[in-house]
Amino acid sequence: MFVLGIETSCDETGLCIMECDGEGSVKVLSEIVASQIDLHAKYGGVVPELASREHMESLPVLLDQAITQSGVELSKIDRVAVTGGPGLKGCLLTGLVFAKGLVAATRPPMGAVIVNHIEAHILSPFITRGLKFPFLSLVVSGGHTELINVSAVGRYEVISRTIDDAAGEAFDKSAHLLGIPYPGGAKLASIADTKTSSRFTLPKVMREAKGFSFSGLKTAVSLLVSREMKRRDEDTEAELAFAIQDSIVDAIVFKTKKALAQTGIRTLSLVGGVAANRALRDALSALSGIELLIPERRYCGDNGTMIAYAGSLKREADIGRFLSAGPIPRWPVEEICEG
Ligand code: KG4
Ligand code: ZN
Repeated sequence: MFVLGIETSCDETGLCIMECDGEGSVKVLSEIVASQIDLHAKYGGVVPELASREHMESLPVLLDQAITQSGVELSKIDRVAVTGGPGLKGCLLTGLVFAKGLVAATRPPMGAVIVNHIEAHILSPFITRGLKFPFLSLVVSGGHTELINVSAVGRYEVISRTIDDAAGEAFDKSAHLLGIPYPGGAKLASIADTKTSSRFTLPKVMREAKGFSFSGLKTAVSLLVSREMKRRDEDTEAELAFAIQDSIVDAIVFKTKKALAQTGIRTLSLVGGVAANRALRDALSALSGIELLIPERRYCGDNGTMIAYAGSLKREADIGRFLSAGPIPRWPVEEICEG
């Protein structure tokens, strides 16, 4: 079966064409990710209206490229998998409408699956290896920070999630306070990695609370940065970055250890954009007796391959319902119930 994956939930347009057996074994034939970072950088964050327009302009061009790269004609594609949520409403709509157009234009109509973006992140470690359950999934991205007990495809029990900012947001907002341009998180991390210690300490955040919370850290970072950055020397910046990264990583690792102990699960997966963070990977790799699954780096950030992959494992939607479906900007992953 040939599956086309489409991702447009935020500021990346991702497309993928893969061949799959429906049981988790796939061969990626073409994958393209067009980042909009340059478009949004001058505004310091994603401008939803601009993001939607950019997706709309890119999608037909990228689909042409994906078809050429894969050698699979549109008429040979069996199924389109498209992100339905969570994400920015207008952005989701562009991907959904594009996918509907493909279904309406093909005879017989290609099948369709509406994919939950978080579920796609959760399943992303398995694009390159066999499916394996149960495991604890640590989803850390720009919009989400969640610990989920995964017992099968479609069976998700949320153990903990953020009550305010997401981990990626904490990185990005701290980076902004340090004067690093949007999205900043990865850059802050690379500056932090030039140090092995810091003269600054930030409070150990949200250890007692049930969910993750990063807003207290943001306030502490803001006060510290405004006090220390008057000098603006490189060394101070790097030590501040180290302390910030250390504090975010500590908070994530603390809650993860607690969830592992609570559930007794020995397999942990680390997914989402922040899974690219080296300090977090190192800290989780050091947990003894825990098998750590991390997707390949190109599947940590948003991409169309994880959408195609998740779509290959799910039941197809009724075509009539698919053609009238709308975007789901808020779509908690535990609300998915079928496999
Ligand atoms: O999963 P993703 O691509 O998009 C969302 O679904 O949100 O995650 C993007 C987030 C951004 O906040 C970005 O700054 C963060 O991941 N990120 C990192 C690193 N690389 C990307 N944060 C910390 N360290 C990194 N190396
Ligand atoms: Zn994402």
